[in-house]
Amino acid sequence: MSLSLLCLIIILKVFSGQILTCHPAEYLTAGRCCPRCLAGSRVETDCTEFRSTSCLPCTDGTYMNHPTGLKYCLTCANCDAGSGLQIKTSCTSTSNTVCQPLEGFYCMDSTEDGCVKALKHTSCQPGQYIRQKGTALRNTECTDCSDGTFSNGTFTSCQPHTQCESPKPRLIKPGTASADAECGKEKLNVTAIVICVIVVLFLLIGIAGLVYFRKKKSGKICCYFLYQTIQTLS
Ligand SMILES: *[C@@H]1O[C@H](CO)[C@@H](O)[C@H](O)[C@H]1NC(C)=O
Repeated sequence: MSLSLLCLIIILKVFSGQILTCHPAEYLTAGRCCPRCLAGSRVETDCTEFRSTSCLPCTDGTYMNHPTGLKYCLTCANCDAGSGLQIKTSCTSTSNTVCQPLEGFYCMDSTEDGCVKALKHTSCQPGQYIRQKGTALRNTECTDCSDGTFSNGTFTSCQPHTQCESPKPRLIKPGTASADAECGKEKLNVTAIVICVIVVLFLLIGIAGLVYFRKKKSGKICCYFLYQTIQTLS
């Protein structure tokens, strides 16, 4: 009889423990409902029959964003630059840090606490234009230039190639998808001019040398004859 009574008591205790629910402003601990600590704080010691829950404020770098029965505060998130993040809102004792993408980055993974991971905006390639500039939420969109136009990857539209005409009528370099055509004035061939000058110079030197040599020779002949004439006469 006493054994069955004990069994009944145990069953009742277990049953009552399982169905024991607390008011939303309370938490369950050791079969008792204790008042929760306010946001910004945590439980230091559970309530007892004689006194209420004792609470401690969250220390720096930790927070609690709702009334709690936990004995610890939560750790504030870091906005890691390596994950492309910067602080949008600093951590307080009642709210976690809110992160946002760095300038030139977009968020690829976000929660209610803001962005968790961001990636750098794609750079458009030469030959493409920026169809849609990247935002904090979306990547940049690039599109290829059509024939006869160009963009170096930083333009918001492809520019038509320059048509060479006066005063620069000569096409030096045809346009590509990534670069404009290059025009210039009719240019003289520098190599040809240099060769011409050298040839003329050599010719002049040659002629001058010849003339000088001739003069010298004829001078000698003249003087030799003169010398002979003088000798014969004397
Ligand atoms: C693209 O062209 C713009 C304007 O001509 C220039 O300022 C910029 O440096 C160029 N960028 C590249 C990557 O070549």
